[in-house]
Amino acid sequence: MMRPQDVFVPLQETEIRAGLTTRRIGAAIHLFQEVESTNDEAATLAGRGEADGAIVIAERQRRGRGRMGRQWESPMGLGLYLSVILRPPIPPQDAPMLTLMGAAAGAEAIERTTGLTAALKWPNDLILHGRKVGGILGEMAADGSRLLYVILGIGINVNQTETDFMEELRRIAISLRIEAGHPVDRTAMARSFCESLDGWYERFLSDGPQPILEQVRRRCLTVGRMVTVRLGDEEVSGFAVELDDLGRLVIRDAAGELHHLVAGDVALAG
Ligand code: BTN
Repeated sequence: MMRPQDVFVPLQETEIRAGLTTRRIGAAIHLFQEVESTNDEAATLAGRGEADGAIVIAERQRRGRGRMGRQWESPMGLGLYLSVILRPPIPPQDAPMLTLMGAAAGAEAIERTTGLTAALKWPNDLILHGRKVGGILGEMAADGSRLLYVILGIGINVNQTETDFMEELRRIAISLRIEAGHPVDRTAMARSFCESLDGWYERFLSDGPQPILEQVRRRCLTVGRMVTVRLGDEEVSGFAVELDDLGRLVIRDAAGELHHLVAGDVALAG
């Protein structure tokens, strides 16, 4: 028998826009039923000159992408699949800070919409009780030393039930619905993310990266743990000492040597 919470509530641009109190984020909203990837769609729009803050949302992604070439499962109408075009006046080497900004905004939006406390696993995972509820994929385009744009994509598992996840993800993934015990309004989630991101982006443009770093440090469950970080063929294991002022994870290995990592896949020990 169909339960009321199984009724699919489609996203609508007018509803997302209604009451949206942002200055930049969501000034233009491009809503699609189905795309390959909202990040790709946003990059195409950015290439054609779409403005800072425009967003792309889809009900489903045929080829949702995660970091490190992984797939991001994006079933119809269950998750939030959203990408933002950002054009901050910063050099390309500072762009990774925007991924941290997206993660901070995602955690805040989850908290404001559901009351659940979300933690961050550096650099881009949104975590509820040890399981992944979402992630950020930041991609940029640059012309030499000039940053053209950044696409900040966020995927949040909103209304999936256990069986909506592929078998191999069930132990490590979670949705807001499973954790909250009831379905969660994706429109409210989208709006809340835009509002949080708008606030952090304004602060970033006026005050620089420190406020973002403070917020990420506060929520980060990576620091203070033994970790193994993998990036390509390289692997570093040791104690995660801190997030430095550039947003890099600082690891002290067994020999006492410090490694400052800009990216990587973190496995937490214990
Ligand atoms: C990760 O945790 O590896 C990042 C996942 C990012 C997924 C989102 S869904 C919206 C946007 N479009 C994509 O293809 N990926 C990001």
